[in-house]
Amino acid sequence: MNIKFNQLDRGYRKYKTEYDQAAISTLESGIYILGNKLAEFEKEFASFCGAKYCVGLNSGLDALTLAFKALDIGVGDEVIVPANTYIASILGITNNGAKPIFVEPDEYHNIDVDSIENKLNNKTKAILAVHLYGQSANIKKIKALACKHNLYLIEDCAQSHGAMFKSKTTGVWGDIGCFSFYPTKNIGAFGDSGAIITNNPQHYEKIKMLRNYGSKVKYQNELLGTNSRLDEIQAALLSVKLKHYDELRKEREHIAQRYLNEIKNSKIALPRIRAGSDHVWHLFVIKTKQRNQLQEYLAKNGICTQIHYPLPPHLSLAYSHLGFKKGDFPITEEYCDTIISLPLFEGLLDSEIDYIIWIINKY
Ligand SMILES: Cc1ncc(COP(=O)(O)O)c(C=O)c1O
Repeated sequence: MNIKFNQLDRGYRKYKTEYDQAAISTLESGIYILGNKLAEFEKEFASFCGAKYCVGLNSGLDALTLAFKALDIGVGDEVIVPANTYIASILGITNNGAKPIFVEPDEYHNIDVDSIENKLNNKTKAILAVHLYGQSANIKKIKALACKHNLYLIEDCAQSHGAMFKSKTTGVWGDIGCFSFYPTKNIGAFGDSGAIITNNPQHYEKIKMLRNYGSKVKYQNELLGTNSRLDEIQAALLSVKLKHYDELRKEREHIAQRYLNEIKNSKIALPRIRAGSDHVWHLFVIKTKQRNQLQEYLAKNGICTQIHYPLPPHLSLAYSHLGFKKGDFPITEEYCDTIISLPLFEGLLDSEIDYIIWIINKY
């Protein structure tokens, strides 16, 4: 058997007629940027998250970058961020000239809340919480800390669409929630796109202007903005996907539950879920000391896997100027060396899940 890590065409085929109709009707409308399709999707996505406002953008990175920009966080400011995250979380901070202050993860791979307080000083302006792999971080406690120290709270929900903590969706705990709709994401578009959500009308208005060259009225540019407008076709396609969210979520849950119940191998640690946290299974990440051997063994047996992520941002060449070295964040670094993500995507067949489980249990 040959199983890819992701096969996006299967997701497309599942609702092909609806996607085709959405794309064609947008093409026929003659309106391709900032039209009704975007306005509708923004309304639907805000309501899905339980937020007042949503602004559609070009990517998850733009969402993060514009969130910090809207809050006037920049040069001289520090932002608390998990060391264990995708580099985009850090870029959102440094794109504004602010400094990332890394914090080690807990056993659920999200920021260790107890390690935040001793990293705060009078330059700290915000906490960026990341809900990694689809599991909500310990956001209620993070929110309490942010309130106690008068800090902004931004959430990176690129991997946590629809995940709740207690009875509130990720993205509405903080001041601004940032989303990516990159095609492999749980609610994935058919190209790059992203969004922010917020309950604050000032943040909403400002990010709406920032995404459109800093203007509210055409050719009257009040802010130094950018071009980050989620286009009409992607918005129309995202509305289709959002409509099917419950089915898509159940499908991911089914695959994850099968892995959790049926993978039985003493060399492998399965993911754990925090009480109160919801997991929407963007990624199914297992851990093993013999990670490279396991990855080779799976590849030899026709199963593609990925590592999320093999190198933490503090050790990447791009951030060498920050002066970190191996050993500075040992928990994060240990995760990078021992984690491996199994295939989990829309359209993964039960026969393929059977095979993956069988091969892993034989290892
Ligand atoms: C945690 C996290 N944050 C931010 C991003 C950035 O999203 P995008 O690729 O849409 O810019 C990603 C995308 O992979 C991500 O996983």
